[in-house]
Amino acid sequence: MVPTVEWKDGVVRILDQSQLPDKVEFVDCRDYETVGLAIKELWVRGAPAIGIAAAMGVALGAQAVKAADYDTFRKAVGAIGDHLAATRPTAVNLFWAIDRMKRRLDALKTEPIPVIKQKLIAEAQAILDEDIAMNRAIGKHGSAVIGDGQTILTHCNAGALATGGYGTALGVVRAAWEAGKKIRVVAGETRPVLQGSRLTAWELMQDGIPVTLITDNMAGTLMRRGEVHVCVVGADRITANGDVANKIGTYSLAVLAHAHDIPFYVAAPSSTVDLATLSGDQIPIEQRNPREVTHVRGKEAIAPEGVEVVNPAFDVTPAKLITGIITEKGIFKPGELADKMRSR
Ligand code: MRU
Repeated sequence: MVPTVEWKDGVVRILDQSQLPDKVEFVDCRDYETVGLAIKELWVRGAPAIGIAAAMGVALGAQAVKAADYDTFRKAVGAIGDHLAATRPTAVNLFWAIDRMKRRLDALKTEPIPVIKQKLIAEAQAILDEDIAMNRAIGKHGSAVIGDGQTILTHCNAGALATGGYGTALGVVRAAWEAGKKIRVVAGETRPVLQGSRLTAWELMQDGIPVTLITDNMAGTLMRRGEVHVCVVGADRITANGDVANKIGTYSLAVLAHAHDIPFYVAAPSSTVDLATLSGDQIPIEQRNPREVTHVRGKEAIAPEGVEVVNPAFDVTPAKLITGIITEKGIFKPGELADKMRSR
C-alpha cells in the first residue's frame, strides 16, 4: 500500500485521500498549518492516521520555532499542538498523539533545543511505527473470528489508508486473507463522504482481496438473505463502558446485525480507547458541512437548494450491541475492555 502519512526530507508527505480513487496524489506539508488543513479537509482521515499526521505536524512546526530558551520553545510548540487539536473533535487518537508529543517535550526539558527538535521527529516516527505494529497484532487476534469462506461486512474505511499502514478492521481482513482463508468483503459506500466506495473498495482491490460494493441501505437485505457472516468496523473513540463512536451509519449496522444474530466486532488499537470518558453520550460528535449531503463530492447538487440538512459525521454504538473489541492486546467484551487495558 502507498504510505498514508510519512516524514520525508523535512516535510510531512500526505496522500490526498480526497482525490481517491481517481488520482494518487501526495501533498507535501511544509508547515504545521498545512497539516492542520489536511486533517480538517479529510486529505488525511481515519482516527489513527490523523493522530500520526498531528504528531508529525507538531514535529514539523517545532523545527521552525526560533527560541533561545526552553520555556519559550515549550510555549510555542504547545500552541502548535493546540492548533492541530482544534481540527476535528471526535477521534481521540488525535488528542492522544498530541498529548504524547507534549509529554515527550516536557521530558526533554534539559536537552539543547536542536536535540529536542530531532527527538520530536523521532517520537512522531515512533507513533507511526507503533501504529503499524498494533494493526498487525489486531489482525493476528482478529483473524481467529473470521471463518474460511465467510463474508465480512465493513463500513467506512478502517484500512491502511486510515492508519499508519495495514489497517484495523481491514487489518483483520488482511490477516485472514494472508492465512489463506477464502473470504469476501462487502463494503458499504458510506454516505455522504463515500469512504467505503472511494477508499475501502479501492484499497482491497489493490491487494486483490474480493470486495463487493453496496449502498448503505442494502445491508439489511444482504443480512436477511444470509449473505453476511460477520461485521468488522473500526472506531474513532471507545469509552470506558465499551461504547464506540465510529462513522455515521455504524450504529444502524449494529442494530441490523443484532436483529439477524450476526456477530459485530470493532477493531481498534489502544490509542483509540478513552478511559477518561465514561460513556458514548459524552463523546463530541463532529457536525460537518451540509454541502457534503446536498452535493456529490462538492460538485453536483442532488437536493433542492436551501433544504435543511443535518450532517453528523459519527454515531455511537452502545456496548450491548458489540460482540467483541479486537485490540492489539487481544479480543475483549466491551464491558471488560477498561480493566483489560489498565492491567496489560
Ligand atoms: O471521517 P473519517 O473518514 O475520518 O472517519 C473514519 C472512520 O470513521 C473510521 O472508521 C475510524 O476512524 C477508524 S479508522 C481505523
